[in-house]
Amino acid sequence: MTSKIVVVGSINRDIVVSTNRMPVLGETIQGEGIEYLSGGKGANQAVGAARLGAESILIGAVGDDFFGQGTLRELEQSGVNTQCVETIEGTPTGVANIYHTSGDNCIVVIPGANGLCTPELVSRYAHEIEQADILLTQLEVPMETVYSALKLAKQFGVTTVLNPAPAQELPEALLQLVDYITPNETEFATLCGHSLETEAQLEQAMMEWKERYNTQVIVTLGEKGCAFLKSGRMASIPAYKVQVADTTGAGDCFNGALSFGLAQGWELERCLKFAVRASALSVTKFGAQEGMPTYDEVISSL
Ligand code: RIB
Ligand code: NA
Repeated sequence: MTSKIVVVGSINRDIVVSTNRMPVLGETIQGEGIEYLSGGKGANQAVGAARLGAESILIGAVGDDFFGQGTLRELEQSGVNTQCVETIEGTPTGVANIYHTSGDNCIVVIPGANGLCTPELVSRYAHEIEQADILLTQLEVPMETVYSALKLAKQFGVTTVLNPAPAQELPEALLQLVDYITPNETEFATLCGHSLETEAQLEQAMMEWKERYNTQVIVTLGEKGCAFLKSGRMASIPAYKVQVADTTGAGDCFNGALSFGLAQGWELERCLKFAVRASALSVTKFGAQEGMPTYDEVISSL
């Protein structure tokens, strides 16, 4: 069954500098290499869904520069429909400066055209949202755009998935429109407005969230998999061990795969097992989009 996933979100050029360690302030060090890759949470999630075989439509904006056109071409090669991506004159494409070390990454994002992905832009493609199985969005485009995309989806009765990244507090009215929310632990603490030190606190916060917003809460736990509520209690899907090349975009792959599963009508636990596998496979290759697996690759790893 083909499923149709509409992603409203950011499109970046990822400038990835590999370095053995981070410089300290005021220090100059020599790096190991540089790559210019297609990235951005919205685009990555759209690629994640497309690789799995969904019809994946991205609504967003790039600038009228060299990065914008190249990125759109690469997204199309990955199977993403970019007809609802607008090119904005006189504006740079979003850029993420990524410092890639053997441990964690550090990222500085310059929104550029993503900042001009407005509610009006999204409303021009409302007909696509209307026909979607899933509307998937994140927080690298303006909050009012995220709000209006969710609102349109709910008006059409379309299931919504919000990946609340990067971490931000969000208004009640927006949260009410979300069917599935997928923070990592840090993002969930930010949303809750307090720290979550223990498993018991995490479980409590998840139960309260579900009660308050009538939203399925899925907390991604990096190499520990993810947590969700099963018959009202916290349950988890363990990750499986892989050789990590690059964790950039792992969360995006998870969200693309979760949305794919939901669009297929699978029950949540099956979707999550599938998404945990997909994102584990994605970290075995360098770059956010490069390692995102096909459906057959996920299934044969199960
Ligand atoms: O989630 C990973 C993405 O975050 C990168 O591709 C980068 O563009 C940043 O926005
Ligand atoms: Na990767």
